Amino acid sequence: MPLGKLRKALAVGASALIAAAGLVGSGAGAAQAAGSQSCDIYAAGGTPCVAAHSTTRALYGAYNGSLYQVRRSSDNTTRDIGLLSEGGVVNAAAQDSFCAGTTCLISIIYDQSGRGNHLTQAPPGYWKGPAAGGWDNLANATAAPITIGGQKAYGVRVEPGTGYRNNNTNGVAKGDQPEGIYAVVDGTHYNQWCCFDYGNAQTDGQADAPAIMETVYFGANKQWGYGDGAGPWIMADLEWGLFSGVNAGHNTLPSINHRFVTAMVKGEPNHWAIRGGNAQSGGLTNYFDGRRPNGYNPMKKEGAILLGIGGDNSVSGRGTFFEGVMTSGYPTADTENAVQANITAAGYAPSGGTPQQGSQIVGGQSNRCVEVPNSSTTNGTQVQIWDCGSGANQRWTSTSGKQLQVYGNKCLDASGQGTANGTQVIIWDCNGGTNQQWNVNSNGTITGVQSGRCLDANAAGTANGTKLILWSCNGQANQRWSLRS
Ligand code: AHR
Repeated sequence: MPLGKLRKALAVGASALIAAAGLVGSGAGAAQAAGSQSCDIYAAGGTPCVAAHSTTRALYGAYNGSLYQVRRSSDNTTRDIGLLSEGGVVNAAAQDSFCAGTTCLISIIYDQSGRGNHLTQAPPGYWKGPAAGGWDNLANATAAPITIGGQKAYGVRVEPGTGYRNNNTNGVAKGDQPEGIYAVVDGTHYNQWCCFDYGNAQTDGQADAPAIMETVYFGANKQWGYGDGAGPWIMADLEWGLFSGVNAGHNTLPSINHRFVTAMVKGEPNHWAIRGGNAQSGGLTNYFDGRRPNGYNPMKKEGAILLGIGGDNSVSGRGTFFEGVMTSGYPTADTENAVQANITAAGYAPSGGTPQQGSQIVGGQSNRCVEVPNSSTTNGTQVQIWDCGSGANQRWTSTSGKQLQVYGNKCLDASGQGTANGTQVIIWDCNGGTNQQWNVNSNGTITGVQSGRCLDANAAGTANGTKLILWSCNGQANQRWSLRS
């Protein structure tokens, strides 16, 4: 961002800004008003952004530069992707026309703060990435289509092996300096491995010591900290551990079930907090606010920035990033609440803009979703678990007749009206039969009304493609499910 525009943005009074952000309605136009975007709000609160990354929208009302760069495979040339208007949303059509007939990768995510803290392909750390020389992969530029304010946009879809980093930053908190971080992510795209992070990390890619990182983490990893249920959770990666609160291991922290998630972590000397909310509506919840875990006071932050990976370049995490910032200083709750109002007013929505019907059925053991393989609509197709995604083949609607309906006309069905252990669970035209009726129980099981047996991931499998069957209820985690809208 040019300095003049930065000054102009900062000149707007704090109370006016926060009030404006709090008052903006749900219309996308409101979110485009100059001087009222996330980083203007942080600046007005005395905690300016020192990094501001987004592939979907301007994070300053006066920003009119590029959001990101794509590189196409056909001729290896690049194109910067900018905005439809100053302070507005991305011009995704520019990407679509540049990438037509070929594939594109996101090669740079520009820093809008004016500090040059751009994110580029992550170099090898202790762990090597899958690209040449041990570098990480770049994200496919078209893999995470959504809309924002009714306009097409793309997120940064991180599959294991994908990562971005900047080890030579400007203005990012170091040592025990205070900072705030937020990321807007896809709440349905995650896994249980390390580590889909965004935020402050070590500069050498090695897990040298605890307390050298401070990032937002989103996912269902239980190797270190974790919360209630099966996840995903918003946690902090502080190095040598993800933390869900002050304790190593479990803290009271709810699983998140929003399609779009605002995830926040902030820290100052011997004090930090986790906050979060639905990025489409409503306010923030305080998930944790307290002292640093043992061994993490004082912090020894090093000020690199990463996205999609752990500090030592662990590349097994998965997630989708739409926007995020890092601030100088510990933001107040009021400032963050105004930022959340600004995010919800921006109008994030799934591609196509209409909310999806039904719920995902998420396995308690696998964290994967019940789906119809290959989006088949053929009667008799046995259902399976697979990575949760945005497809209609993973959306199940509970009807008043106890059916679990997919595509609006097919039902989850015990094959051949079978009631024995091992009966395949399939889809079939809805017909009202008791083999198509299911009790969704408060203990997390789903039982067939006819058989009384539990919906079960075969042989306690957790891999993509594990088929579902009926089995005697036995209290095991492969028979526990949660519905996520
Ligand atoms: O702290 C959790 C992870 O542990 C870090 O991201 C990584 O550097 C280390 O492997």
